[in-house]
Amino acid sequence: MSKLLKCLINKDISCVPIWFMRQAGRYLPEFKKIRSKNQNFLKLCFNSDLASELTMQPMKRFNLDAAIIFSDILVIPYALRQQIEFREKNGPWNKNLNINKFLETKEKDFLLTLKPVYEAIKKTKQTLKKDKSLIAFVGAPWTLLIYIYNLKENHNLSEKINLKNKSEIKHILKKLDEFLKLHIIHQKEAGAEIIQIFDSWAGLIKEGELDEYCFNPNRSLVKFCNENEIPSICFPKGLKNKYQEFIEKVKPTAISIDQEVDPLWAKNNFKEVCIQGGMNPKLLLGNERVALEETERYLDIFKNNPYIFNLGHGILPETNPEIVKKIVDRVNLVKR
Ligand code: CP3
Repeated sequence: MSKLLKCLINKDISCVPIWFMRQAGRYLPEFKKIRSKNQNFLKLCFNSDLASELTMQPMKRFNLDAAIIFSDILVIPYALRQQIEFREKNGPWNKNLNINKFLETKEKDFLLTLKPVYEAIKKTKQTLKKDKSLIAFVGAPWTLLIYIYNLKENHNLSEKINLKNKSEIKHILKKLDEFLKLHIIHQKEAGAEIIQIFDSWAGLIKEGELDEYCFNPNRSLVKFCNENEIPSICFPKGLKNKYQEFIEKVKPTAISIDQEVDPLWAKNNFKEVCIQGGMNPKLLLGNERVALEETERYLDIFKNNPYIFNLGHGILPETNPEIVKKIVDRVNLVKR
């Protein structure tokens, strides 16, 4: 069994598995080389040979315990027939919001669009060493809603959402719940062993609406993973002191914490869950000694917990790969 699965399934604390969000990305020269020849980001995600190659790039460079399939959370609204574009400076954009097309998309067509993702998973699984894990992922419904409606640049998001037709939102959330489950199970059948659920914008939900937009939708996906024996890692970024309520209500196999969560508070209050991540990705941009001291601090705090080393968010494009290597090598020395 891989180190990561031992941690997730057996709550084994004898080792600390390590991987990074955005471990395949612009901080790697070999990534930039392929990316520069493939201007259309979504097309790149749907090129199964290249997606598999990009997934493997960080595995070749570092002794990581898991590969995360190179794809994006926005392949879902795309497969639900929205015109998603990745703009150079301003990030993703839904050019043509069309709720009818979204709600009317058939399972068969959705899966046909996403077939290259499943192919990329199959290919990667064949190349990946047996002691490494393969992680697949989905975006949580709320976070996808933000991108579907292009609300990312807005403040008062809950109000903006509430100004919309409530019944329309309900229908969208229901469709996402159904189709995200389809994507989860097809990724599993293709060879993925673990699912991470990214709720990157959970921190923007008003307190009184957390059940509706965050806890219930995440719970539904985690339950589905449980029914299909897939370990789940939830990342409700920005929830601050509501992380604890999230764990109690959603009950994921593991919880990924961001850099705003005090790791000592997490250690003392999060029960029956593996903890992942936490370290500020910005610390990888500066002094190597400081980055390694912070690595040590997280390892020490979580020495008696099932802990997966990762960061509080994705690796930043300006990161020096040499610092990443030093951290990976340090974490791999842990034997308890
Ligand atoms: O290595 C990995 O972690 C796997 C691949 C992965 C990507 N996106 C590739 C990617 C994963 C897991 C994601 C998830 C994702 N995508 C999230 C959730 C995690 C998070 O960051 O909060 C979100 C919100 C998105 C949406 C998205 N995709 C944005 C906002 C952007 C543009 C902004 C940016 O940081 O570049 C993307 C593009 C994207 N997805 C890139 C990569 C490597 C950068 C593409 C490039 O310009 O080269």
